[in-house]
Amino acid sequence: MKTFSIALIPGDGIGPEILREGKKVMDAVAEAAGITWRWKEYPFGAEHWLKHRKGSPTLMSEEDMKELGTHDAIYFGSVGDPRVPEHVGQAGALLWMRFYFDQYINLRPAKLLRGVESPLKGKQPHDIDIYMVRENSEDFYIGLGARFTGNKSSETMELKRKLYKARFKVDVDVEPAGDFAYQIGVVTEKASERVLRYGFELAKKKKMTRVTVVHKANVLTKVYGLWIEKAEQVAKDYPGIGLDFAIADATTMWLVRRPEHFQVIVAPNLFGDILSDLAAATVGGLGFAPGGNINPDRKAGVSMFEPISGSAPKYKGLNKANPIAQILAGKLMLEHLGEDRAAELVEQATEDILEAGKVRTFDIGGTSTCSDMGDAISERLLQLKR
Ligand code: IPM
Ligand code: MN
Repeated sequence: MKTFSIALIPGDGIGPEILREGKKVMDAVAEAAGITWRWKEYPFGAEHWLKHRKGSPTLMSEEDMKELGTHDAIYFGSVGDPRVPEHVGQAGALLWMRFYFDQYINLRPAKLLRGVESPLKGKQPHDIDIYMVRENSEDFYIGLGARFTGNKSSETMELKRKLYKARFKVDVDVEPAGDFAYQIGVVTEKASERVLRYGFELAKKKKMTRVTVVHKANVLTKVYGLWIEKAEQVAKDYPGIGLDFAIADATTMWLVRRPEHFQVIVAPNLFGDILSDLAAATVGGLGFAPGGNINPDRKAGVSMFEPISGSAPKYKGLNKANPIAQILAGKLMLEHLGEDRAAELVEQATEDILEAGKVRTFDIGGTSTCSDMGDAISERLLQLKR
């Protein structure tokens, strides 16, 4: 029997309740598929920060990160609480994990499940079945730039990644003086190649025939010029899979008008952020949107699985939130751990419950609770086992 050691981070807002249901379903699938979990829960969230780390820009210490890195995966609820500055949960937890563990893939599937209605007219189950692959280590997310008032600024900035180190020295002379800000976006050969290759490999594994590469090379010519060149090179290694380029703004339109067109989408970090929320909306909303922050090499860095919704503080403690995004994040975790059969079972059980229609959370017009949904999917899993 395979055993996996998993770090649980319930976090803030609805995080603890949806993660509780996610864990419940993971325990059920473990029984159905013959695997064992070794869970370890961590307190990283607002209370922890207020008590032990107040004033620090990060939610976890370096030591905490090292310990997280010893697990087979991290199963994450969500962070964000009105009592803590926003950047702590964002740059100081989410982005920090992504960069620290070199989770360079952000996999965000959007699939219209049986029993869920799309806001787009006439869509049948699985008409929308998109693997959004978002680059997760660079682009406009590196946090480098400056803001100043006056007519001069001089900055030396460092970018440290597992793949490379870069130093920027930027002098600005501006006239007339005023408030001024700039932010640097970076695209490199190596980071582009690895995420594009991941997209093509995923298409191959899922027997898909097209990879759409999103860009805006018509305007951001330097960064996305390099990006599309790498896409062309990588695509040559996959003769059976079509390479399709799509400009970011047009992609938003086509995702609404003809989502069936898309199979695997590979997008730079910022466009991927925007497009993944849009894709989620087409399949029922953020309650159905899981994400994996993945380092495909399990030895090189631990991966983290989360719902992409955030902590939704206004629903905190109401046992009302839809746990399906969290449960499907668990499905992505199972795939990452090589447990494809167990992953399939999770999706099947989820769809069976949604299709039966008896248990529905408020976001899809029902009155069932978060735990009703977790219970129903777990019970269904145990039936499927037989
Ligand atoms: C997401 C979020 C994050 C992002 C924020 C909270 C830093 O929107 O995971 O999509 O922009 O990546
Ligand atoms: Mn986002």
